[in-house]
Order: sequence, then structure tokens, then C-alpha cells
Amino acid sequence: MVKAKPYYAPGGLSVAYYDLITGADGRLRGDEDVYAGLAPAGGAILELGAGTGRLTSALAVRGFDVTGVDISPAMLAQAKARIADLAPDVRARIELRRGDMTALDLKRAFDLVICPFFTLAHVPAGAAWKNTFAVASRHLAPGALAAFHLPRLEIMRRPGPANPDLPVLDLATPDGRRLLLFVRERTFREGINRLDQVLEYAVADGGGRIVQRSPERLTYYVADPEPLAATAGLVLDRPPIDLGGVGDIFVFRRA
Ligand SMILES: C[S@@+](CC[C@H](N)C(=O)[O-])C[C@H]1O[C@@H](n2cnc3c(N)ncnc32)[C@H](O)[C@@H]1O
Repeated sequence: MVKAKPYYAPGGLSVAYYDLITGADGRLRGDEDVYAGLAPAGGAILELGAGTGRLTSALAVRGFDVTGVDISPAMLAQAKARIADLAPDVRARIELRRGDMTALDLKRAFDLVICPFFTLAHVPAGAAWKNTFAVASRHLAPGALAAFHLPRLEIMRRPGPANPDLPVLDLATPDGRRLLLFVRERTFREGINRLDQVLEYAVADGGGRIVQRSPERLTYYVADPEPLAATAGLVLDRPPIDLGGVGDIFVFRRA
């Protein structure tokens, strides 16, 4: 078994190359438009699991007030760096804070709560999902919306690559090197619907020599969110929105 550090840990290449990888990830194309379409113009959005501020900053550029919460200091540090480059009026619409989406209480209501790009799948699909739905609900007035982007069960069930030594991704980095991504381990447990993966991020120099490696453990949990959301008074507002054929955005309305 490969010795791996947790995903999004300080110094991990999953953090350093998060923006490069998501920028190239067609499965996310259009998510910004979906979320922007769920809030009133200039409204206030709470993002659970804001990461490096990919959406936080894009939605603020579109005129929304965005509060981004994340549990990972390394991801938040990158979000802060990204936001520092924005125009002052856009920056003024963004608040970043460290926090746990399963236990957050900002004591205010937002027009929309979003939990993008499989973030809910990072926590177990039982009490932790219920607690996150309760957090979303407590930050919304009756009638307001919450959107959760979740991976599809059939995609999670897929086996890993036949040859784990072949990269599943090979991207040019801005400094002229290459980022390679390998799936070293992948195990799906039926019943608890839990996927465990070890992803190895590797950086190769111009001559193809690996100069840096970062094996990282990533676990996803999948479940039908509807009954768990219902425990927090969130009811499905519309059919799930397909994103890239591998996941869906579930939009709930606070009853
Ligand atoms: C896949 S990234 C999504 C980042 C960003 N929302 C985006 O769409 O690009 C998932 C993020 O969720 C964060 N996260 C995981 N568990 C969390 C928790 N319990 N509370 C807050 N953030 C969490 C991770 O640190 C990571 O930054």
C-alpha cells in the first residue's frame, strides 16, 4: 500500500496544482453559470468548501457578495492569493474564513448556499451530510435555495486504470514542466458507497524526469441526498442538473 498524506494537506501537490487541474476539467464547465442563475443579482452567497476561490472569485466578479468557508488552511492561503489580484471593489465583496461546513453558524442568512465540486462527498454520507444540510438551512430564509454538486454512484463504482503506471492526466505547468496524475489505488465499498483512492501527483522536468511526487489519499462518499436534506427542511426544487455527465447539482429550497 502506498504511504499517502491527506488530500489538500499543506505542501501537497493537490493544493499547488488545484487551479491548473480544475481549469482543464471539462466536467466543471458551466457550474459558475448554474450557481449565478440561482441567486438574485447582487445577492449574498455562502460557499461551503470554497477551496482556492475558483468560484468565490468568479461569482464576486459577477457582482455577488460571496462568503467562502473552507477547512483547509493550504487551500484558503491560495484563495487569499488569488483574491489579492482582484480589483478592490470585487475584493470588497469577498469574505474568506476557515470553518467546518458540518458545524458552521455565521448567524446570518444568505440568498444562496452552494457546496460545489463534490465537496459534500468529502464527508461521510450520514450524520455529516445531515449536519451540512442543517448548516445550509440555518443560513437561508424560507424559500431560498441551496445547491450541492455530487458525483454519480455509477462513476464512483468504476474500477481504476488497468495500468496504474500510466498517467490519467498529463498537463503542461505554467513554468514549463509537466504535471502527471496517477491513480495508484482505487477501492469502492458497496453498501457504504465509499470510494478510497490514492492519487499520485508527479512533476516532471523538461527531460521527463520526475522531480517531485505527492501521493495523497482521497475518500468520497455518495448517497441519495434527498432524504438527508429533508431532515433539515430542504426539499428538492427541480430535477438534478447534469454537469459533464459525471455529477449532478441538486438544488433544494428551504421549506
Ligand atoms: C473539490 S474542492 C472544491 C473547491 C471549490 N468549491 C471549487 O469548486 O473549486 C473541495 C474543498 O472542500 C473543502 N472541505 C472538505 N471538507 C470540508 C469541511 N468539512 N468543511 C469545509 N470545507 C471542507 C476542502 O478543503 C476543499 O478545499
